This record gives sequence, structure tokens and C-alpha cells, in this order.
Amino acid sequence: MKKHLLFLGPPGAGKGTQAAIISKTNSYLHLSTGELLRKEIDSNTELGNQVKDIMNRGELVKDQLVLEIVKKNLCTDNKGWILDGYPRNLSQINSLNQVLLNINQPLEIVFYLDIPEEVLIKRLLMRGRKDDNEETIKTRLNIYKETTEPLIEYYKSLSLLQYINADGDLKTVSADIKQKMA
Ligand code: AP5
Repeated sequence: MKKHLLFLGPPGAGKGTQAAIISKTNSYLHLSTGELLRKEIDSNTELGNQVKDIMNRGELVKDQLVLEIVKKNLCTDNKGWILDGYPRNLSQINSLNQVLLNINQPLEIVFYLDIPEEVLIKRLLMRGRKDDNEETIKTRLNIYKETTEPLIEYYKSLSLLQYINADGDLKTVSADIKQKMA
């Protein structure tokens, strides 16, 4: 049975890495809003130019722009999918709920990847993406704590949340996710 999953957690928790592993093994669609936005920037599109500075500062792109991307890319056929990096605030939750209602594909599991702050900062500084510098990481973390972290309680209240200790090696974290997906 193909599942509809969401990976939630702070920057650097390994959402993208684990979503890529799980989507490959299961032939799921991996929908990362960050990745799709970076592609727009690399392709020099109008949208890319609109969001470039915002992303480089580590701030959130406007809800409506991200929603368009999600609507355009979320497949409506009978394929499993993983949302990575969306939703990130309560307004995005409401939009997502509406989209999922329209396509009749409810979320089944929300994986919360938890990791100590010092570990994620080390990981991000080592990766060195354009938004992986100390100042931007601080902004991303503050925004995460203020606007995204409350989503954990929301999904917990719907009994959709699965806790993942993301402070382990890749294989251990993947194995935990796979076991909780079964
Ligand atoms: P996005 O791309 O989503 O960035 P993020 O949320 O900050 O997440 P990261 O990609 O940094 O972390 P991750 O948890 O995916 O970890 P990863 O697997 O990469 O968003 C970027 C920007 O786009 C936002 O700041 C915003 O501007 C905009 N945006 C995106 N979505 C938006 C939305 N919904 N609304 C508004 N704006 C939006 O791993 C990190 C590093 O750790 C890698 O080098 C990896 O190799 C390493 N690693 C992973 N797992 C392990 C492990 N187990 N052990 C050791 N190293 C590991």
C-alpha cells in the first residue's frame, strides 16, 4: 500500500536525506519545497529571482508561492509521496489540508525527526549550502522554533505523529523510519 508521508523537523535533521532514501526504495514521489525552489533559482526563472534573497537570508518564502509549487507537483495518481519542508506554518497546514481533501489523499504518517541543536549546526556548516552559514542557520532555527515547531503538537493531536531520533547514522535512522512505516 502506497503511503502519504510528511517529514517534519528542524533544518539539518536529515529530512531531505531520509526522504530521498525512502522514496527511492519505495518509488515514491519526494516533494521537497526547498529543492524545487532552489531549482527555480538555478534556472533563473521569475519565481527563482523573486525568492533568491529571501532564501539566502533563511526566511520563509510567501505561503501563496509555495502553495502553487505544491499544487503543481503533488501527483494525484495512485503513487505514494513524501512531503519534505512543507507545511511550515499554520496557514500552510490549512492550505495543505484543502489540497489533500481535493485529491482525496490524506496524510497517513508524520515523521518528526528530532536532533540536538549542536549536531544539526555542525551538519549544516559541514554541508556548506548557500544558506548554511552561522547567521542564516540562526535565522532558520528561530523561524523553525517560532512557526514550524508548533506543527508537531497539531499532528500529535491527530495521532499522526511518529517520533524519530535523527541523531544516529543514516542506516539506523532509515531503519527506524521503515519499521514505523510498516
Ligand atoms: P529546505 O531546503 O527545506 O531547508 P531546511 O528546512 O532548512 O532543511 P535542510 O535541507 O537544511 O535540512 P534537512 O532536514 O533536509 O537535512 P538534510 O537531509 O539536507 O528550505 C530551504 C529554504 O527554502 C527555506 O529556508 C525557505 O526560505 C524556503 N522554503 C522551503 N520550504 C518552504 C515553505 N514550505 N515555506 C516557505 N519557505 C520555504 O541533511 C543536512 C546535512 O546533514 C547533509 O549534509 C546530510 O548529508 C547530513 N546528514 C543527514 N543525515 C545525517 C546523518 N544521519 N548523519 C550524518 N549526517 C547526516
